[in-house]
This record gives sequence, structure tokens and C-alpha cells, in this order.
Amino acid sequence: TWTTDAFVEEAIREIRARVGEKRVLLALSGGVDSSTLAFLLHKAIGDQLTCVFIDQGFMRKLEPERLVKLFQEQFHIPVEYVNARDRFLALVAGVTDPEEKRRRIGHEFIQVFEEASKQLGPFDYLAQGTLYPDVIESADTNVDPKTGERVAVKIKSHHNVGGLPKDLRFKLVEPLRKLFKDEVRKVGRSIGLPEEIVQRQPFPGPGLAIRIIGEITAERLDILRDADLIVRQEINRRGIYHDFWQAFAVLLPIRSVGVMGDQRTYAYPIVLRLVSSEDGMTADWSRVPYDILEAISNRIVNEVKGVNRVVLDITSKPPGTIEWE
Ligand code: XMP
Repeated sequence: TWTTDAFVEEAIREIRARVGEKRVLLALSGGVDSSTLAFLLHKAIGDQLTCVFIDQGFMRKLEPERLVKLFQEQFHIPVEYVNARDRFLALVAGVTDPEEKRRRIGHEFIQVFEEASKQLGPFDYLAQGTLYPDVIESADTNVDPKTGERVAVKIKSHHNVGGLPKDLRFKLVEPLRKLFKDEVRKVGRSIGLPEEIVQRQPFPGPGLAIRIIGEITAERLDILRDADLIVRQEINRRGIYHDFWQAFAVLLPIRSVGVMGDQRTYAYPIVLRLVSSEDGMTADWSRVPYDILEAISNRIVNEVKGVNRVVLDITSKPPGTIEWE
């Protein structure tokens, strides 16, 4: 029978045997897969591992700082922080089409990652948090026809973008490739990942960029970050974070009239997207008690400058999707 301890032991043995004295690069996102991977590799090969965190500027408020600090100070795993905020913001300026946003962000991610790998490298191996369902999905494309070995043809950055440049063909280390998501959580927990990461709600690769409908600006990002933080705070302090598959805010690029004090306002609406789901394939909007909705709405309208209205998304998936873009 499968036990996490046996898995961890065997995985560490395998990583050491595969990598030897060579160096390994890992793109850390802060999700459960890449975090578990970082722990496992660090246990196995210590400072032969280099973790890179690319901050594209679309993360939630204070998350990049928190993540880097958590890894460095608490886990003693060094992280190379790459600040690419301005680059990404410039890249999406004026772009309103959702697919175009995703394409550009995904493409730039690879670009930045490639630069980082050249600067910090050379590396022989790339560590990826490939899970069993991904292995099945990419069965043909990722296997070298000559050696039968799995090779990197893309970075699994959940950006769902295309090929790696030819001169950046790493060999792969994929110690999670036989696991399902729930098993990754068990492994992560058993090697000391905090619950905060193990049980984290899913967060899309392009991040807040696809939760600002239409054009992304620095101002809109700030507004959404503040609104999003309030949603999380109100949910966390009631201990209901795990009642949701996801609970987040979306910013709409329109403005409506309101009144505050004796002043007329003309500002953005925030949408609350609170859903339950088993696997993200289907979802239902969560029936959240009115007093919680009221608290979230009041705080957002009162505390977030630039917002004067909060609305609730009551669409299931299908026909809606969870994200708005
Ligand atoms: P939708 O919006 O398609 O989302 O109902 C289903 C689940 O997938 C997440 N999602 C993403 N995750 N990269 C990711 O890693 C992405 O580009 C992406 N887009 C959507 C979404 O948050 C939800 O959990």
C-alpha cells in the first residue's frame, strides 16, 4: 500500500540517483505542487537546487513578499526573486482581449524564465510539478523518441503556452509524476508544508490579470488587490476559507454612479465570485449568508477608493466559467 513516508524516501533516492552532482532549476509559484517539489528537492539535493520566483505583478496583495520570506526564513530554502512587474504591465497595456492577455503573459513568462536560467545557470535539469493526469495528457509530446525519456518541451507554468526555445532543452526531474493532487497534498503535509499552502485555493497562472476585465492598469490592479484582500480577510476570520473552491473579486471596467456622504461618486463595481466545486470542471455559486456578504460589501465600498458598488455573481459552471476571462 502507498504511504507518504515510503514515497518520500523513494523519491529522494531517485532524485539523487538521477541528478548526481548536477544543478536543478525550479520555477516556484507558491502553489501546492511547486512548493512540495521545492521541499522534496531541497531535502534530496540541498543547494544544488535553485528556486526562481517570477513576480509578474499579478499576484495578490503581499503574496510575493510573503512567499519568498516564508521559504527563506522559515523553510531555509533560498529563492531567487525576479521582479518583472513593469515588464508585464507594459506588455499588457491596452490589451483587452482575454486570450491575447493570456498569450502575452504566458509568452513573457517563458522569456523571463529563460533569462533567469541563463543568468543563474547553467542548469542541467529542470524540476517540474508534473502530476499523473498531466503525464497522461502529454504522453506523446514530452517523450524523446530516441531515448524514451521525458524531456521538457514546455514549461508547465499553468500558462498553457507553447514550446521552449531549442537552446533551452533541459532534462526533467518530475518526482510527483505518479501522484494525484490529493496525494501531493499528503506528501506536502508529511514533509512539513504548512496548511496555508497545502490547502490553498487554486489561483490562475495569469493571476489578477484575468480578473480585471478589459484593460489592465496599475490603478485597477491596486483596486482589485485591496478588494481581494478584504474578501479573504472576511472569509478567513470566519473560518470558512475551506468552504469554497475559490472565493475572489473581479473588477469590471465600467463605472456607475453612487453617493457617498453628500458627494456623487462615479466608480468601478467589484464582482464577488464565491464558488464550490469538486474539481473545477463544474461549479456552483456558494449560498453565503447575507451578513457575510454585507460585511464584505460594506468594507469594500468604504475602504477601497475607486469602488462604489459590489455585485454578486450567481452563475453556475456551466454555463458560466469560474473566472471571468
Ligand atoms: P474556469 O474559469 O475555466 O476555471 O472555470 C477552472 C479552474 O481553473 C483555474 N484557471 C486556471 N488555472 N492557469 C491555472 O493554473 C490558468 O490559466 C487558469 N485559468 C483558470 C480557475 O481558477 C479555476 O479554478
